[in-house]
Amino acid sequence: MSPLMLAVPKGRLARPLVKLFERAGIDASCLLLDDRRLVRDSADGKLRFLLLKPDDVPTYVEYGAAELGVSGRDILLERRYDLYQPVDLGIGRCRLVVAGRRGTAPPAVPRVATKYPHVTAEHFASRGIPAEIIYVQGSVELAPLVGLADLVVDLVETGATLTENDLEEREQILAISSVLIANRALYKLRHAEVQPLVDRLRSAAAGA
Ligand code: PRP
Repeated sequence: MSPLMLAVPKGRLARPLVKLFERAGIDASCLLLDDRRLVRDSADGKLRFLLLKPDDVPTYVEYGAAELGVSGRDILLERRYDLYQPVDLGIGRCRLVVAGRRGTAPPAVPRVATKYPHVTAEHFASRGIPAEIIYVQGSVELAPLVGLADLVVDLVETGATLTENDLEEREQILAISSVLIANRALYKLRHAEVQPLVDRLRSAAAGA
């Protein structure tokens, strides 16, 4: 039987993911190895991890290159994929917020820099504020400092990036965490293997 493919984000989630898998009885310590391999197997050989940029994880799962994946809710809300989301993994917790320069008030039609143009547009529309959305890919907090934007919509975890760039949180839009995602067809096709893994991850997440 070929291993189940699980698309995971490279970077800061590796450690909490390995701990979560450990609680689920799976040795995924291969995710912590400091090499350039993008495909790595769990110690028991039953799971094959694909290491991806976080934004690409849902694409691999939606197209069936992987049965399962781990994705932030932020990405899933911004771009609507046709996926199952069977488990909130309770890791990667952060918040999507509106922030601005400390002590300033935004104009009536603010320019808002963000990696999340759709969620941001919906948020400001729901407030009746005619915002101009400016798409940027990263270092979002820089935009108000150099006059590109009046506000930003971005993820906040510790708050250090906001503080160190003289920004303050104005409003929380959403609480974010990482969820297990699954390809709808493959979930059914490999149900006998996928379901027990999903159940173990659900129990592991509940015990976190
Ligand atoms: C993320 C996010 C914030 C920062 C928040 O950026 O976009 O900039 O982390 O974390 P904090 O509240 O703990 O400071 P990331 O480091 O992923 O890089 P990016 O700016 O290139 O997106």
